[in-house]
Amino acid sequence: MNSIHERNDTIPMTSLRIGSWQVSISRCLLPPGQLASRYDANAADWGCTARRYQLETAYQQTLFASGATDLLMGVSGEAQVLDCGVGTGSLSIALQGLLADEPINWHGIDTSSEMLDTAEASAGHAGMTISLKLANVLSIPYADASFDMVMAAHVLEHLPQPDRALKEMVRVLKPGGRLFICMTRRSLFGMLIQMRWRTWAVTEPQGMAWLRGCRLSDIGVCSINLGRFAGLGSTAFWAKRPC
Ligand SMILES: C[S@@+](CC[C@H](N)C(=O)[O-])C[C@H]1O[C@@H](n2cnc3c(N)ncnc32)[C@H](O)[C@@H]1O
Repeated sequence: MNSIHERNDTIPMTSLRIGSWQVSISRCLLPPGQLASRYDANAADWGCTARRYQLETAYQQTLFASGATDLLMGVSGEAQVLDCGVGTGSLSIALQGLLADEPINWHGIDTSSEMLDTAEASAGHAGMTISLKLANVLSIPYADASFDMVMAAHVLEHLPQPDRALKEMVRVLKPGGRLFICMTRRSLFGMLIQMRWRTWAVTEPQGMAWLRGCRLSDIGVCSINLGRFAGLGSTAFWAKRPC
């Protein structure tokens, strides 16, 4: 049987209760190779997308609210930060904008080689050096407890089981380190993204349940304003790996 049609390769789209009937509709995911090719094809335009949704400003407001900046400023020596699904680097560049001259060692992984090329160029324009690797968030090529902060924006909703990626992100997080993620939420905007990219549109309770399953502490959540085109289109979640 074709593996695309196995249950683990689908994403729940909608569920409707009619009397004693529960009707649920799921959609087959884009296979990983096709997803990477789509992002390769979109890499050149991703900067425009990021500007349309005011990603850098939106990320800065939420990163600040999450306390990530205080945490990184409190690290003695050079803090280690990993951006999973780095894309063109918007999230790392937003965080760097908040940290002024803090010594940070930036790392990024992505499954799209074109996105990584664009990330290198964008980071260069922002005056950052970022170490980039072609790699999957489900199998992060770093040792356990390597990072002070591990983050991912608009990546986990592409996966059939986002909690598996979360567990892998927690593996590479140092005890006391900070996890920060953003995911498209259930909304009209979320539905449009779902139709185009076959992603999850994540509710707050669902995201919180995934984080609690990773045995994290200090879990926080807030909506992200993506400007006039998308409104409160995403949700940010953050948490600490207990010491
Ligand atoms: C919507 S873009 C977001 C990019 C960036 N984080 C941002 O906020 O602008 C999603 C990115 O995740 C990458 N991606 C998708 N699935 C991935 C996976 N399993 N592992 C690593 N990266 C992945 C895509 O190639 C793409 O660059």
